[in-house]
Amino acid sequence: MSLHNVTLHVPPKNKLSGRLDVLMMVSGFLLAVFVGMHMLFVGSVILSPSLMNGLAWFFEELYLVQIGGPLILLVMIGHFILGARKMPFRQKEYIAFRAHSKMMHHQDTTLWLVQVATAIIILVMASIHIYTMLDTLPITAAKSAARIQHGSWMPFYIVLLAAAAIHIVIGLYRIGAKIGFVTRANRPAYRKYMVYLLVATAAISFLTHVRLSLLSI
Ligand code: HEM
Repeated sequence: MSLHNVTLHVPPKNKLSGRLDVLMMVSGFLLAVFVGMHMLFVGSVILSPSLMNGLAWFFEELYLVQIGGPLILLVMIGHFILGARKMPFRQKEYIAFRAHSKMMHHQDTTLWLVQVATAIIILVMASIHIYTMLDTLPITAAKSAARIQHGSWMPFYIVLLAAAAIHIVIGLYRIGAKIGFVTRANRPAYRKYMVYLLVATAAISFLTHVRLSLLSI
């Protein structure tokens, strides 16, 4: 396979493409910050359902949920479209991508494929989730507990959380490598931090689910 065919899935590098790459990194970073804060917000129920209710009331009084929710959805769709420029959607592109991966034997291409798969899962599931949240305002710990206890929302959230956590950890790692934060020398240390981040996210989410499952409604 010629080099031309092998690099088919990569868009041509020019000034615009570079700017779109920066936009993708910035939007990805902002979304990661949002998801981190969101986990802490929902996780506040672990300390006390009143705390979660109070925070939800505060955000809704300021219209942060009503305006922020659709805004997050838009940023997410924009971020996906920016990433989709490089996704191997066509069969020819996918074959070229596979050949590239095999040839390079590089972990980066595998990580990137994981990013593509998790991005599609997040786009579909987070859209459903945000729509459901905005359609059933106000947010209360009791309503969240009812969803977890009586619906199929728990498995839904577990899949969404796994996809989001993996996508964010790999994304942050790749941003770090691109801007030179993660170097060959400190790479093992950063990999370790990323595993800590995954474990901490899983632990907070686990406790959140336990608390919501045990809440009397
Ligand atoms: C932007 C508007 C959003 C609002 C208002 C919101 C609100 C909430 C609320 C109230 C819960 C508690 C469970 C429930 O009530 O059913 C929850 C859970 C959850 N949300 Fe969101 N969410 C938003 C966006 C997102 C996004 C963009 C993601 C991921 C990409 C996400 C991932 C999750 C996950 C995984 C849970 C389960 C709890 C956990 O595992 O810690 N949410 N969300």
